[in-house]
Amino acid sequence: MDTSAFSRDAFFKTLAEKSTHGIRGDYSQADEQYVIAQDWAAYTPEQHALWRRLYQRQAKLVPGRACDLFIDSLMQLDAADGIPQFARTNEALMQATGWQLVAVPGLVPDQVFFAHLAGRRFPVTVWLRQPEEFDYIVEPDVFHDFFGHVPLLFNPVFADHLQAYGQGGLKALPLGGLPYLARLYWYTIEFGLIESPQGLRAYGAGILSSGGEIDYCLASPKPRRIAFDLERVMCTLYKIDSYQETYFVIRDFQQLFDDTQPDFTPIYARLQNRDALPADSLLPGEVDLLL
Ligand code: PHE
Ligand code: FE
Repeated sequence: MDTSAFSRDAFFKTLAEKSTHGIRGDYSQADEQYVIAQDWAAYTPEQHALWRRLYQRQAKLVPGRACDLFIDSLMQLDAADGIPQFARTNEALMQATGWQLVAVPGLVPDQVFFAHLAGRRFPVTVWLRQPEEFDYIVEPDVFHDFFGHVPLLFNPVFADHLQAYGQGGLKALPLGGLPYLARLYWYTIEFGLIESPQGLRAYGAGILSSGGEIDYCLASPKPRRIAFDLERVMCTLYKIDSYQETYFVIRDFQQLFDDTQPDFTPIYARLQNRDALPADSLLPGEVDLLL
């Protein structure tokens, strides 16, 4: 289904309506930045075992599907044996790129999310999915947030881009730019593909933490794979509860960084007069990239 969910706030509302689990996570202890303690000691042996199963499945799938940068970082993360302690990861992350993980109860408001990214802090959900959600989960849990997002935070270009995104988000809110920025995030940070000498690879966290979509996005004849174009992406609707119908492909992370450098203010103004594109559209002149 096409949803009007174009921001974390909207996503949060959609989720509350749709989720069979309701809103998970305890927000009562959160500070004004929605930060909580990870309380690592509270995870049960069953939860650590579920994490190991999730990790082992994904670790088998990433070779030949995830970009090299992701795989190299993942190996150094030392997260195979159970739900990691964020404080440990933070020591390595601080040295590599100056980023830090902060524990949060779940999704946080857009403004809070952007402020964290602008401060080089990545919010990581503390709760783990239920065993019956092994194959697919709509909302982000600790496995998605950690396994999917944390490895690339070790890459300097990606790390700088994500901080710029956060700063851009704070700027976009009063300009009405949120829907456009949310689509950009969705089709890059969450579901992006990247070229490599060996063929297309995934770098989006939503793909990399998924048992099914990691193969689907590269091997299925169904979805479209289109060269990344900033304004095209910003106009494209997306699905939050099924595999994507379109993936956008960047050449490298420098392209993502460079193409998002210009001031978006005039772009937001221009796009406001344009209709959004369905998630499965292919425009004249666009090529569906083959493997
Ligand atoms: N360049 C964008 C602006 O001026 C900010 C931005 C950077 C947005 C990186 C997204 C990603 O608004
Ligand atoms: Fe995510």
